[in-house]
Amino acid sequence: MVSQAPKQGFAHRVQQYVSRVNIRLEQALTSRGGVPEQLVEAMRYSVLGPGKRVRPLLSYASGELFGLAAERVDSIAVAVELVHAYSLIHDDLPAMDDDDVRRGRPTVHRKYGEAMAILAGDALQAHAFDVLCRDSAGFGMTGTRVIGWLARAAGPAGMVGGQVLDLQAEGRRVDESALANIHRRKTGELIRAAIMMPGELAEAVPDTIRLLDEFAGNIGLAFQIRDDLLEVESDTEAIGKSAGSDKKNEKSTYPSILGADGARRRAGEVYGDAMAALDKLGEGASGLRWIADFIVRRSR
Ligand code: IPE
Ligand code: IPE
Ligand code: MG
Ligand code: MG
Repeated sequence: MVSQAPKQGFAHRVQQYVSRVNIRLEQALTSRGGVPEQLVEAMRYSVLGPGKRVRPLLSYASGELFGLAAERVDSIAVAVELVHAYSLIHDDLPAMDDDDVRRGRPTVHRKYGEAMAILAGDALQAHAFDVLCRDSAGFGMTGTRVIGWLARAAGPAGMVGGQVLDLQAEGRRVDESALANIHRRKTGELIRAAIMMPGELAEAVPDTIRLLDEFAGNIGLAFQIRDDLLEVESDTEAIGKSAGSDKKNEKSTYPSILGADGARRRAGEVYGDAMAALDKLGEGASGLRWIADFIVRRSR
């Protein structure tokens, strides 16, 4: 059964969910001893910086669709954001995109050195799974399936695989279907996990899972097309990261293969596909609809 959305609109709850996950991220990154001081510092610097928290918001909104109390979604929201933060640290490394600015501040390797950045990323990934395991009693029988979504999303056929394809496509001309595959993996899979994990926890029926997955995959792709567009349309100050990065690295992006107008059009079509699936999930999906609108309109 798909639940009804709470009466008040999702916009009213966005700030509550952001504050909620920020408190829990802070708790998850409070060392109870045994962690080298500089490592905790680098992990906290990366995670607790001014991120938009889009993935946790998607998890809470997906939870609303299934009538899950926010408490049941907290560890999912935290874990996905920890994996996301790790992916950003490694993405910015000199061996990868070689970027100096993230979330409006020096990247982790610029502040703490390359070795500490690599290790902070490694630690955040492992810590994310520890956070989920500690909560797995609350997941009941679905525990390993819930956690499996994140493992696959982060893994070789997911985000890491996508990052490999992204690097291999530098300086080459790839076609749109190859680029969609890169974007769906490097960015889309983690977004997909953020949305699907609450569905798995709620033991949603296969038809609902299929529609949710259709929405999740498409909104993940739309997110990265928008990210590509912001790089060419905006500036470093507005987006809090280096606006010339894709060009410098000769990345394959939607604007580079379709032009800015073509990329905007494509983002609109993919968003339309996402909405078509969501519309079939009823009123309970209003939070997901709100975030999807934010994703394609955002300016940072
Ligand atoms: C940036 O993600 C990296 C991509 C996957 C495109 P976000 O735009 O969600 O970054 P933060 O978390 O708000 O900094
Ligand atoms: C980010 O892709 C994907 C991951 C971090 C996994 P990009 O390299 O395009 O994102 P930004 O522009 O650096 O945030
Ligand atoms: Mg990259
Ligand atoms: Mg990058």
